[in-house]
Amino acid sequence: MKGELLAAAASAEIFAWGRDAVLKLFRPEYAYAAHVEAERTRAVHAAGLPAPEVRDEVTLEGRPGIVLERIEGPTLLSELARGGAAVREVGVRLAEIHRALHAAAPASLPRALDTLRKSLAAADPGLREEALPIVDALPDGAATNHGDLHPGNVILSARGPVLVDWVNAHLAHPALDVARSLVLLRYQSSRRTRSAERLALRQALADTYLEAMLDAGHVSQAELGPSLAWASHALLHSGAVQDADVPALRALARPPQPG
Ligand SMILES: Nc1ncnc2c1ncn2[C@@H]1O[C@H](COP(=O)(O)OP(=O)(O)OP(=O)(O)O)[C@@H](O)[C@H]1O
Ligand SMILES: [Mg+2]
Repeated sequence: MKGELLAAAASAEIFAWGRDAVLKLFRPEYAYAAHVEAERTRAVHAAGLPAPEVRDEVTLEGRPGIVLERIEGPTLLSELARGGAAVREVGVRLAEIHRALHAAAPASLPRALDTLRKSLAAADPGLREEALPIVDALPDGAATNHGDLHPGNVILSARGPVLVDWVNAHLAHPALDVARSLVLLRYQSSRRTRSAERLALRQALADTYLEAMLDAGHVSQAELGPSLAWASHALLHSGAVQDADVPALRALARPPQPG
């Protein structure tokens, strides 16, 4: 049943599976994420949100996998890479897709603030002390947050844009999701090389996306500040950043000053 390799991503490999499905086969270090992603994807699909249908959960070659409906079409990222869309267009489009997600009736998902407080309760005291004031300042809300929205997770299908990679989906204020996308667009990196061209492109994409969100009145700067602190803190601790970006992320991750 396992067909050709379609994508080799950070957490998993994606294979063709039969005629109209894919297998997302998790890498061993991300095995814990498979069932969580299956559950969250089921929840958003059941809520009528643009997500693939979950067909099955399997174990193959000792690795957990999810069988998902295959969504045909290029990603927003591949459109950008092949020059089929301008940076500005992609930033505006991503913001539009993200606003539509937040405006939809919420899915049955855990609340981000609950998950954050629970994980901090179990964290080491140093980290907890550092992160608690950041989490305490976050705006509360209950919109469906994708939690990882960037152009590589948007497939442009014949039925409209479909989002994949729902492992971090939660209910939260939209500002948390916007801040997360902003730090991913600007700073998330597993590569060692930094070309000036690539950095400029990422910056332009993030700027256009943010401008579109602020222009639409989707989030305010007051909501965004604490959310950016949280998203920057989380990205720093994930390790998926380059040394050169650490000072900028540390500055963003400063907790709100009392008074
Ligand atoms: N249901 C699907 N139908 C078609 N293609 C898919 C599907 N799910 C994933 N893909 C393709 O595989 C790629 C990687 O999938 P996904 O984002 O779920 O993996 P990941 O390891 O979580 O990625 P990341 O690099 O963002 O961590 C997507 O960008 C898309 O091109
Ligand atoms: Mg992805």
